[in-house]
Amino acid sequence: MAAALAEVGWQVRPILGRAAPPGEVAAAAADVDLVLIATPDAAVADVAAAVEPTATAAVAHLAGALGLDAVAPHPRTAALHPLVALPDAAVGARRLLAGCWFAVAGDRIVRQVVADLGGRSFEVADGDRAAYHAAAVVASNHLVALLGQAERIGAQAGVGLAALLDLVRATVDNVEELGLAAALTGPAARGDEATIERHLGAIAPAEHPAYRALADEARRLAGRAVTVPVNRPVTEGTIGGLCARLHKARSGGHRVGLVPTMGFLHAGHRSLIERARSENDLVVVSIFVNPLQFNPGEDFDDYPRDLDHDLALCAQAGADIVFAPDQHEMYPEPVTTTVRLRTLADVLCGASRPGHFDGVATVVAKLFSIVGECSAYFGEKDFQQLAIVSRMAKDLSLPVRVVGCPTVREPDGLALSSRNAYLSSDERAQARVLRRALEAGAALVEAGEPDGAVVEARMAAVISDAPLARIDYAAAVSPTTLTRSRQPLQGDVRLLVAVRFGKARLIDNLGCRAG
Ligand code: PAJ
Repeated sequence: MAAALAEVGWQVRPILGRAAPPGEVAAAAADVDLVLIATPDAAVADVAAAVEPTATAAVAHLAGALGLDAVAPHPRTAALHPLVALPDAAVGARRLLAGCWFAVAGDRIVRQVVADLGGRSFEVADGDRAAYHAAAVVASNHLVALLGQAERIGAQAGVGLAALLDLVRATVDNVEELGLAAALTGPAARGDEATIERHLGAIAPAEHPAYRALADEARRLAGRAVTVPVNRPVTEGTIGGLCARLHKARSGGHRVGLVPTMGFLHAGHRSLIERARSENDLVVVSIFVNPLQFNPGEDFDDYPRDLDHDLALCAQAGADIVFAPDQHEMYPEPVTTTVRLRTLADVLCGASRPGHFDGVATVVAKLFSIVGECSAYFGEKDFQQLAIVSRMAKDLSLPVRVVGCPTVREPDGLALSSRNAYLSSDERAQARVLRRALEAGAALVEAGEPDGAVVEARMAAVISDAPLARIDYAAAVSPTTLTRSRQPLQGDVRLLVAVRFGKARLIDNLGCRAG
């Protein structure tokens, strides 16, 4: 400011910085027309108080958010806020001389300053200054922060800041020429929610809140509903809170559907939520990574989590309530009562994950007991889990109808799983052997192969074609008892495989009928 004023012919006294002797600060208003206080906001009042008032000098501050009271008790007070970013002295002087806008208040002398600098001004009264300053911060600082996000996300795709800045300039020109609403392009303006979801899937979870907030702003500008979709679920973290909501719904005669999950939701989970939506009046999705079903050394700590993404998927699939308790809410210490299975749990996955299904049964029993009378939806992908949960509900007389839902797969047949996120690209390519092995086994069964051991050996042989695969089991069992089918194979047969690829342990299964 000093440099710019000197440039247009003002006589500028040397700047009094932090180290100025107090006497010079006290005498600053003697023999001048204007004292400008250009300190951090918090220091303005102290500096103004340190300057001895004179009848001749006006005392003004340069703070956007402060009113005239900050420079009281001087008889002539003013505020002069340049609406331009001044990152350093040289750039600042240039910008101040380029015809910029100023917010002014108080003594007329600040209008003279604006006129001499060739700028334009508007008056902002004390009561409006915070809002004025907020607008300035949004237009400048927040834009810079937003460009930081654009740079990070662009870098992910190899796009540099220079290219994005050209886009910004053209966009600002469009806004000036056409107005805000007409200048708005992109998916939120078009109502293309699928593309927004794809973006969210591609960018890091840490980028989601800002992206979502601004997508809402774009929708608002485009005159679209800001809350999309309309049916945004409520999130409930406590058992008591969930019970209260369910009690209210049930007294209205509503049918309740429950979808238990561990989060990091994908299209497999979504199919369960949509099924629940189609059969019930109120849909509850639980998201809880259940420590009891992980053995020491398993991936409990690393299990992928992304609550923001999960909430968006639940909203799209039509859930009403997302129950996301923390560990303490579900398991007050010490955990004393658990469910223990007598059969079904020590074969197949249970053989290599001892205690796993007791942990599953315990958390599902708790969820069933919390939610009460309902239909609960489970994927056939976890066939042994489905069998165990169905049996447990019956054995413990829980008022729950357990519904099995078909497995959702990638185009190459790989069953969707949160743990697919662990696969490297080579492992991912080879992971399709699970489905191929099951199909080869089913073809043998349906062609009349009587010996289950032959079917199992055939599936194992297909899996061992994949060099990165380490087979855990390949089994042909009865779908109800999960034990090896009697020889010769007859009736319904369930084929199940479990295969490790690196850190990921993948499972899949297929039903067939002995021919
Ligand atoms: P999670 O692995 O998150 O799976 C939640 C539900 O989604 C399960 O019923 C599972 O079978 C189903 N599911 C997973 N992948 C699927 C796919 N590709 N197609 C269809 N359904 C699929 O399973 C659990 O969580 C936990 O063990 C739980 C039951 C929540 C207990 O903690």
